[in-house]
Amino acid sequence: MRFSERTAWDLGENSFAGRLREARAAGLPLFDLTISNPTACGFAYDERSLLAPLSETSALLYEPVPLGMENARAAVAAYYRDLGAEVALDRLCLTTSTSEAYSYLFRLLCDPGDEVLAASPSYPLFDYIARLDDVRLVEYPLLYHDGWQIDLHALEASITKRTRAVIVVHPNNPTGHFCSSAEREAVQKLCAERGVALIVDEVFLDYGLPCAEAQSFATGQSPALTFVLSGLSKVCALPQMKCSWIATAGPKADVQAAMARLEMIADTFLSMNAPVQHGLPNWLASRHDMQGQIRARMTENLAALDAALAGSLCERLTMGGGWTAVLRVPRTVGGMEFREAALAAGVVVQPGEFYGLPEGRVVLSLLTPLDVWTAGIEILRKVGS
Ligand SMILES: Cc1ncc(COP(=O)(O)O)c(C=O)c1O
Repeated sequence: MRFSERTAWDLGENSFAGRLREARAAGLPLFDLTISNPTACGFAYDERSLLAPLSETSALLYEPVPLGMENARAAVAAYYRDLGAEVALDRLCLTTSTSEAYSYLFRLLCDPGDEVLAASPSYPLFDYIARLDDVRLVEYPLLYHDGWQIDLHALEASITKRTRAVIVVHPNNPTGHFCSSAEREAVQKLCAERGVALIVDEVFLDYGLPCAEAQSFATGQSPALTFVLSGLSKVCALPQMKCSWIATAGPKADVQAAMARLEMIADTFLSMNAPVQHGLPNWLASRHDMQGQIRARMTENLAALDAALAGSLCERLTMGGGWTAVLRVPRTVGGMEFREAALAAGVVVQPGEFYGLPEGRVVLSLLTPLDVWTAGIEILRKVGS
């Protein structure tokens, strides 16, 4: 059977995944510091009120509205109003996931072989989405000097005749880098001058540490056609509800043309379901409780981590927010890579290479329950001493 080239992935297991599978199969006690699924991290969800909208009889009526039902889009507009941004309903498009939103935008902006620029290190999912949409993903570097910055020169130099969009993840996963206001202005100006769109992924925007520049790109005037992405999986810690959105900003004529085409793309799939759209206003309105629980967990875990690593050879890199912490660690311990040595000692960490980080970096999920976290980082400290 012949399959498409775009699905010709190497689906084999890498050696670290193999070792992890074996350790789990052997029933070894493992402290897993990588769990990022909020529904599996011991948070208290208000089950009754979250599930109530799903049984509304009005959800039995099928209303195929390509951009999303009006009440649902109004709830998203209210979310942006709380962030200080006015987003009109005709600038919003609902999707079943942020990944689907990326795919809509790639199909809106790119022909096969066109290029989209994304930061490195960053979230590896973009590679897959771009490949499935026949788009070439080109990396621009994030640099680290006591904090992360966009390499603006490299970003500018990466723009070619085939570039259709620049992706900024604000804050970035896994580095936790928020675009500063100077970077924001520079990227907007660059995109406007070079006629490329700006895609800003703000799924972790609400999880900034107190010092972070956590301003949404939906606020203020953008000289560039801008698509701001977010969704329930992080904003409400409800990944199972499958609901995200695109908020469009920028020059009016570009926005209108983009929305007309996006509406056609959305109409082709009509992927949103009615019960979730009915639930969206309730879920967004009740996000503060869950966000408070997650921020408390992040704060507690970061404090415990910093205390445990003090005086060790491991160092936490400076971050502005998000659900992950990046550690600089010794490359090898006793002849093994650090992550292998950690696994042998009973702790699961994510290899930094997974995100395009250099060797000697590992990534931890700040959602990890405190008991697992405390035990795990104590072992990590010993491994890295
Ligand atoms: C930066 C970033 N964007 C998008 C996503 C995907 O979000 P969704 O669950 O809405 O598809 C993730 C998931 O972790 C992410 O880290």
